[in-house]
Amino acid sequence: MDITRVCVVGGGTMGNGIAHVFAQKGFSVTLVEAKKELADKAVATITKNMDRQVAKGGLTAADKDAALARLKTATSIAEAAGFQLAVEAVPERLDIKTAVFKELEAHGAPGAVLATNTSSLPITDIAASLKDPSRVIGMHFMNPVPVMKLVEIIRGKKTSDAATETVKALTVKLGKIPAVANDFPGFVSNRVLMPMINEAILCLQEGVSTKEDIDTIMKLGMAHPMGPIALADYIGLDVCLAIMEVLDKGFGGVKYKPAELLRKMVADGKLGVKSGSGFYEYPKK
Ligand code: 3HC
Repeated sequence: MDITRVCVVGGGTMGNGIAHVFAQKGFSVTLVEAKKELADKAVATITKNMDRQVAKGGLTAADKDAALARLKTATSIAEAAGFQLAVEAVPERLDIKTAVFKELEAHGAPGAVLATNTSSLPITDIAASLKDPSRVIGMHFMNPVPVMKLVEIIRGKKTSDAATETVKALTVKLGKIPAVANDFPGFVSNRVLMPMINEAILCLQEGVSTKEDIDTIMKLGMAHPMGPIALADYIGLDVCLAIMEVLDKGFGGVKYKPAELLRKMVADGKLGVKSGSGFYEYPKK
């Protein structure tokens, strides 16, 4: 199927980044948010991020205007009916995602590919209640979406080869690199990344070092672009905790037990960059 129309559900950090790259690469995009104010906020963020690309010479002003002209918003999936690809990026709750996928199945073009950007929920579970689970697939973008090259593609138990090949080809059209994983807890990316972040938080909790030095050690010693504590704040501490809980539930054992300090930060509402405070402070500009 020739994919030209894309529906992105959810306009938060990941959803707005996903809508941004599809619109920039020539697709007609409808971004669905529950409320118009949230949709407008997502478009404002996309505009700001595109302005930044224009200022840095990565995008022309004309291409930015054309991309924004290809981007529409809606407050229901029905308004986006006829899309050939959907990418869901709503909160990480199976009940919410299941409801979204039922709507997507009802309103997509025949044979539309239905992708989820879930960071760790099983694709097979998200697809379970649909008439045709073979079209459901994980399309896991990395934050910040316009910058990061990887899309981790996750095959659920019933995902078809055709859906996998379609999504791989689309990823290349977006200027990104696909890598495929099977449907195990945390897939590959978060199964490897999150225990490292959790371990860094344990180092802080146990007084092995300060947050600044933990970050310096990992940033300069291992050539990571960000230290793990700063990265946890960037991803969102609630997201990190939710992923550790999926790993803990899926595999058990001490290796995947979320650090108490991580739990406490989330319980205190310190979620990282998005809440203005996490392990570091992020004063509003
Ligand atoms: N939109 C568009 N462009 C953006 C952007 C955005 N949201 N954020 C950054 N950029 C661009 C900048 O304009 C800049 O462009 P240039 O190279 O043309 O100058 C470039 O990205 C680098 O940004 P900055 O100069 O502001 O800052 P840094 O050089 O410090 O890079 C970073 C910032 C890209 C965030 C870098 O620190 C990094 O790569 N960090 C690690 C990110 C990471 O690991 N992400 C994966 C998280 S895990 C995940 O997402 C999975 C989930 O399931 C948890």
